[in-house]
Amino acid sequence: MLEQLTEFIGRTHLVLLHFPIALLIVAAIVELLRALNLRRAAARYVPGPAASTMFFFALLATAASVLTGLILGFDDGPKVDQHRILGIVSGVLVLITTFALLAARSPGAKKAPSIYLLLLTVSAAAVGLTGHLGGEITHGEGYITRPLTRIFQDPTEPISAVALDPAMFDITQAQLDTYLTDIQPILDASCVECHGPEDAEDDVRLDSIEHVLSPDTSILMRGDPVMSDLVYLIELPPGDPDIMPPEDHADPLTPDQTRLIRDWVESLGS
Ligand code: HEC
Repeated sequence: MLEQLTEFIGRTHLVLLHFPIALLIVAAIVELLRALNLRRAAARYVPGPAASTMFFFALLATAASVLTGLILGFDDGPKVDQHRILGIVSGVLVLITTFALLAARSPGAKKAPSIYLLLLTVSAAAVGLTGHLGGEITHGEGYITRPLTRIFQDPTEPISAVALDPAMFDITQAQLDTYLTDIQPILDASCVECHGPEDAEDDVRLDSIEHVLSPDTSILMRGDPVMSDLVYLIELPPGDPDIMPPEDHADPLTPDQTRLIRDWVESLGS
């Protein structure tokens, strides 16, 4: 009961996190424009009421996001650590900015308003960057821009630029051809964003046959799909927390795709 409740509270992080990002960025823009206008009118900048209200809500939302983020925890990894540290740093920055705002609003404060403006801008940038790193954890690197890079890709380009020698991998030419025409495109489309050169989750890379067959990770047992994690994980029933690709990220592979991978792994036994 308590465990389920903490898990629920942790997951609200994925909703709450949007508030500090939007509120701080908008508050910073509003205040920067205000400061510019006041300067043009040769008046002294003081924090405006609208952005101060936004900042107050941003403070609450940041506290809630940091807290739920720590509760959520998530499976660890260098990226999660970066996100966590930057999240905590952002929280501290927002707290310091709060004191700067209080100082800036008290009459007679000379430098405080500009310090507040600077801290507000830095906080907005830090929270934005934290959110960006967090997005890469949940969606994989380059999730948003990938459709754009596809525009510039030549669809007629051969799958592999270098001629591969099947003997290098102790497989037949036919097995290599099946891999290049049927298997690698599936892995490229559904797995490589998290299992590629930039982001090898669990140290598993699926961007080339060399890595797929690598004895280091042993995700594949030649001729034995049942014992191969590569097959096991994609054939898990929908809803299984271990399924690949992760369900919150993408739809499961189609039965045709899993069959192609299973048959190919099976064929490697002979
Ligand atoms: C959104 C990112 C993401 C995508 C897409 C993704 N994976 Fe993963 N994969 C992970 C993460 C994270 C782990 C580590 C899982 C864990 O520790 O529970 C992992 C682990 C694995 C492992 C190692 C598991 C083990 O038992 O050691 C294999 C094999 C794997 N994935 C295969 C695949 C395949 C095949 C695909 C495509 C069909 C795929 N993954 C797509 C994120 C992803």
